[in-house]
Amino acid sequence: MPSDTLPRFAPPDAAATPLHILPQDTFADWLGAQPERLQAWVESCGFRAGLGEILRVPGDDGALSAVLMGWGKPAAHARGRFAVARALSALKTGTYKLDGPLEGDDLNEAALGWLLGGYAFDRYATQSPPTAKLVAPAGIDAARIEAIAAGEILTRNLINTPAADMGPEALEQAVRDLGAAFGAEVISTIGDDLLTANFPMIHAVGRAAEQAPRLLDMTWGDTGPTLTLVGKGVCFDTGGLNLKPGASMGLMKKDMGGAATVLGLAHMIMALNLPLRLRVLIPAVENAVAGNAFRPGDILSSRKGLSVEVNNTDAEGRLVLADALALADETPPDLMICMATLTGAARVALGPDLAPFYTDDADVAASLAVAGTRVRDPLWRMPLHRPYDTMIEPKIADLDNAPSGGMAGSITAALFLDRFVTDTARFVHFDIYGWQPTAQPARPKGGVGMGARAILEALPEVLNL
Ligand code: BES
Ligand code: ZN
Ligand code: ZN
Repeated sequence: MPSDTLPRFAPPDAAATPLHILPQDTFADWLGAQPERLQAWVESCGFRAGLGEILRVPGDDGALSAVLMGWGKPAAHARGRFAVARALSALKTGTYKLDGPLEGDDLNEAALGWLLGGYAFDRYATQSPPTAKLVAPAGIDAARIEAIAAGEILTRNLINTPAADMGPEALEQAVRDLGAAFGAEVISTIGDDLLTANFPMIHAVGRAAEQAPRLLDMTWGDTGPTLTLVGKGVCFDTGGLNLKPGASMGLMKKDMGGAATVLGLAHMIMALNLPLRLRVLIPAVENAVAGNAFRPGDILSSRKGLSVEVNNTDAEGRLVLADALALADETPPDLMICMATLTGAARVALGPDLAPFYTDDADVAASLAVAGTRVRDPLWRMPLHRPYDTMIEPKIADLDNAPSGGMAGSITAALFLDRFVTDTARFVHFDIYGWQPTAQPARPKGGVGMGARAILEALPEVLNL
């Protein structure tokens, strides 16, 4: 990401208009302590401090002297950043300084809302509108919020970029750019080298595309516990020979959303210089249609040695991830996290806003749940229900990539991935959607990160940092 597009707070000495963010339950007390003139203005404008309500306050000379923003009732605080972002777009220009009672998680949430509220995907826009600036509020870790916002924006930009400009080559370049920015090492194994290096399923899924399939391997940090992130990098998912119908294919530039989300998280981790050793593995492929495409009925061998019967070429994500997970598992990290836009079933189960995750480790699950609530990045634990194992066991190979019957599609995909990771590993798999279907403040329609902020928040506890 070019540095001029990094989300930043205004410098502390910038001339700024006071912005009071006011919770509704203490609003009456706050107002009672204000000058009569302001009380009269608030009254006559009908401002009640509802979440996202905005009131501009003129000074004696008629110029803007302060802005009031409602923070609503406690229950509405859950995603307060959306309201802050709405206020920001209403304000349009100027520099503001928070002056009000928010603190702790609420203050962090408001500050993040401000930085994300300024986001628009502008790679193809000839003009982008100016946005209002915020002086970093006292009481927040401004560098941390900036790093989180920058990681989230990287994720969104990668997802939003059309597949024509975000194929396996461009995704590799994005990994190299990120690595170069933080002194990480990046290795890639490309095309037929995948066969000699024993990644047969990444090769099989990606071999029909113009741009060769590849496995990207980034490493960073030299001390501390080890964390390996694996992200699904299907740059476009046509479904392969089991071609998706048009309506289902329309959004499939986002099928590298898992890769984009782990790269955003990697950005946050490296920018914050967390004391850990990070590895990011991304199988980057396009699931395309051509004469040499893999076929329904083919039986693939995998890096781990398990054979896989392809019953649907559209269940390609689990194939490329299986080889990457097997590699990750060969140097067992303290924690392994996989993120993938893996199944339509996950979206049916939880919708676009709630990230489903699977793990056998109850402690990790609990840490993630608490962290997700604290940073308002909602997650939901799903069951790795072993009795469904039989659904992914066909007759003539070890595994079936696409069980028929339409039952528990997200669970069976998770169970499939789990076969490629040893039982002792601390493994978490996220089946994310990666897309905001309708525009909201701080969240325009398009690519969106899920789970990364919760993971970042949980890392100190989970890895004993
Ligand atoms: N990339 C899709 C999953 C997907 C679709 C995620 C829509 C989010 C929104 C994946 O490769 C896929 O097509 N999965 C199939 C698996 C099935 C054939 C077993 C699915 O979910 O239908
Ligand atoms: Zn697919
Ligand atoms: Zn896919």
